[in-house]
Amino acid sequence: MDIPIKIAGIGFQVPKTVITNDDLTKIIDTSDEWIRTRTGIERRHVLSGNESAVQMGIMAAKKALEKSKIDVEKIDYIIAPASVETHAYPSTACEIQAAIGAVNAACFDITAACSGLIYAMGIGKAFIKSGMAKNILLVATDAVSRCLDWTDRASCVLFGDGAGAMVLTVSDDNQDDILAVSLKAEGQFGDYIKMPISGKNCPLVEPNTIEPMYVKMDGKEVYKYVVTKLPTYIEECVAQSGLQMNEIDYLIPHQANMRIIEALEKRLEFNPEHVISNIQEYANTSAASIPIALTEAIQSGKIKLPATAILTGFGAGMTVGTTVVRLREGIA
Ligand SMILES: CC(C)(COP(=O)(O)OP(=O)(O)OC[C@H]1O[C@@H](n2cnc3c(N)ncnc32)[C@H](O)[C@@H]1OP(=O)(O)O)[C@@H](O)C(=O)NCCC(=O)NCCS
Repeated sequence: MDIPIKIAGIGFQVPKTVITNDDLTKIIDTSDEWIRTRTGIERRHVLSGNESAVQMGIMAAKKALEKSKIDVEKIDYIIAPASVETHAYPSTACEIQAAIGAVNAACFDITAACSGLIYAMGIGKAFIKSGMAKNILLVATDAVSRCLDWTDRASCVLFGDGAGAMVLTVSDDNQDDILAVSLKAEGQFGDYIKMPISGKNCPLVEPNTIEPMYVKMDGKEVYKYVVTKLPTYIEECVAQSGLQMNEIDYLIPHQANMRIIEALEKRLEFNPEHVISNIQEYANTSAASIPIALTEAIQSGKIKLPATAILTGFGAGMTVGTTVVRLREGIA
C-alpha cells in the first residue's frame, strides 16, 4: 500500500548580525558593485559570539514543529543535513533532539552540502513510504562563516549562516506532497568545492604541520557544472512527477548565485515572478538556503498556497537534489 506523505510544517532562523558588501571592503579588496553584479548578493547574516548552527537549528525546528501541530514526542527521526559545524560528533541532530525533547527520535546527520535538504527529503520519503517512520523532522543548518578564509575574496563574499527545518508526516487526506525526488552525485568533480578537516597521521609516524581548514572553491567550474547539468536533472525530476513543467507554479532554487538562478529561469521558461530568490539578503546559506527561501516566500505572500513547486539544490560532492512538491496552506 502506498503511504502518501504530507509536508506538515516549515520554519527558518538566521542570525541577527548582518555584514554588507561595503563592510567586506574593510577586510578584502572587493566592492559592492563587483559582488552585486557577479552574484546578486548584498548582505549576509553571520553567527557571532557563542551562537551556533545547533541553536539556529533548534529555533527553525521549533517553528516547523509548531506549524505541523505534531507533538515533538511523536517524531521518529531527526535528520540534519549539517555539513559545517565546529565538531563531527555528537551529531547536530542529537543536539537538536536533546534541546527540543524529541525523546523518541533516532537522530543522524548527512553530508550532501548545499543539496542536503533535498537529500534528507529523499531519505524521509523512503522511511515514511516503507513504514519505518510516521513523523520526521529535517533540520538543515550550517555555520559556513566559521569555515571561510576571510582573506580569500573569491569565496568569502558568497556565504552566510542560517537554518531551515521541515516536518514530514503521513498524509491524513491521501494527498502525496512529495511527487518526485531525484538525487545525483558526481564524485569525480569533488575538487570543485572542498572543506578539509584535520585528519593527520599520528605524530609518531610523521611530523605534522597544521594546515588551515577553510572552504576552497573553484567558482568557475562550479558555475559551468551547474548551468550545464542542472536544467536536465530538473527536467528529469519533473517528468517523474507526472506533472508538466508548465503545471508547476514556483521554482525555489538553491541560493548560490543570481546569475545561475536567472539562467535556470530562462532555460525552464519560468515566469520571473514565480522564481524565488532571497540571495540579496542571506547569500549562500548552504543546505539551509532552500527552506529559508521557501518559508520566507510563503510568509511574505510571494508564494500563494496551495501550490506546486520545484525545489532544487547543488553543492559540494558534487551533489544535486531536486524534488517536485505540493505545498499546502498553513505550513509556514
Ligand atoms: C565565484 C564567482 C562569483 C566568480 O565570478 P566570475 O565572473 O567567474 O569571476 P572570476 O572568478 O572570473 O574572477 C574575475 C576577476 O574578479 C576577481 N575577483 C574574485 N572575487 C572578487 C571579489 N570578491 N571582489 C573583487 N574581485 C574579485 C578575480 O580575482 C578575477 O580577477 P582577475 O581577472 O584579475 O584574475 C562565480 O564563478 C560563481 O558564482 N560561481 C559559482 C559558485 C557557487 O555557486 N558556489 C556555491 C556552490 S554550492
